[in-house]
Amino acid sequence: MNQVAQQPETLQRQNQTLRADAPSTAAPTLSVKGLTISYQAKRGAVQAVRNVSFEVQRGEALALIGESGSGKTTMGLGMVRLLPSTATVSQGQMLYQRQLDGQDTNRVDVLQLKGRDLRQFRWKECAMVFQAALNAFNPVLRISDQFGDTARAHSYLQGKDLAERARQLFELVRLDPERVWRSYPHELSGGMRQRVLIALGLLLEPQLLILDEPTTALDILTQRNIMDVLKELRQRLDFSLLFISHDLSLAAELADRVATMYAGKLVEISDVYTTFKNPVHPYTIGLINAVPTLTAHRDHVASIPGSPPDLIDLPRGCKFHPRCPLATERCREEEPELVPSTDDTHWVACWNWEIARSQLSAGQKGTSA
Ligand SMILES: Nc1ncnc2c1ncn2[C@@H]1O[C@H](COP(=O)(O)OP(=O)(O)OP(=O)(O)O)[C@@H](O)[C@H]1O
Ligand code: SF4
Ligand SMILES: [Mg+2]
Repeated sequence: MNQVAQQPETLQRQNQTLRADAPSTAAPTLSVKGLTISYQAKRGAVQAVRNVSFEVQRGEALALIGESGSGKTTMGLGMVRLLPSTATVSQGQMLYQRQLDGQDTNRVDVLQLKGRDLRQFRWKECAMVFQAALNAFNPVLRISDQFGDTARAHSYLQGKDLAERARQLFELVRLDPERVWRSYPHELSGGMRQRVLIALGLLLEPQLLILDEPTTALDILTQRNIMDVLKELRQRLDFSLLFISHDLSLAAELADRVATMYAGKLVEISDVYTTFKNPVHPYTIGLINAVPTLTAHRDHVASIPGSPPDLIDLPRGCKFHPRCPLATERCREEEPELVPSTDDTHWVACWNWEIARSQLSAGQKGTSA
């Protein structure tokens, strides 16, 4: 958490501006329903994603937040069908709304796609910039060749047309097109390589871009620069964004809605203003209270006690109960499902969210109280 959380009012104003062009009545770009993913490990099955459901609306930025190991990357990899062979999707659907020339066509279940159809989905319809991908470039290929390979693999633009498309994207991500196009990866700084990766993700004009911790390995000024680039891209281009981050302040800055993940499950989802102003899940409240601000006294920055559970041997009931100050007998026995709370745009998985709302206000009291 190396940035200062913004005021919710500022967020709402900013994000409403960003959202202005998004049609509100359109079908969601992606509807994830009951997705369940586990990894086979020596000790047993790692339950990385458990019965997760959510939608990504047309043109919106949805942030997926949560501590390390909560299942965010697994979720992203599952969405682009790039899970390792040790992973099993045991349940779920991912309904993707296909479009042609801006018009909705058919809906497909991404989990059922094969061959050419699956290749079209990846990159052309949904692209992912992987966590820690800064070193993923082929070191002996110039950036132009790496763009060429991607374009060729998907029968996209070639030659001058491709160079022109790349030039436009490089300008959008604030890179010098002439220099970058001819460069080898090692000739670019980390921030430049991250911007090239974002441009590469957008090359085939996907409807949905997944960015997994795109700023984590970067210094604070470079991080700031990437965030500005992303905000500008969202204003200039029409795509939906799943922004995976453990950094709440970055999520607050970019997202329209925020989904909180804990031990493989979504525990709260709402618009960004509500997430930061009126969160109702004790875990989200704990995460917000753990963000340092410039003005808060040090004593008001409270970490969440304990650590996330072992995903091979999950506790019974609510998986947060060993760390939750509001845990009751019911919490220890029964796991709550994600249901609407204050209204049907704000969902929470907690038996005691009303008590949490009144007793654990974000910014006033830590979960360790
Ligand atoms: N290939 C794998 N084999 C076995 N277990 C895995 C594998 N990849 C991830 N896991 C486990 O799955 C769980 C979820 O991991 P994941 O990488 O999705 O979390 P994350 O929220 O992205 O964490 P981080 O913030 O550290 O990136 C963790 O317990 C992790 O150890
Ligand atoms: S269900 Fe119970 S243990 Fe879980 S977050 Fe809510 S109050 Fe805490
Ligand atoms: Mg991750």
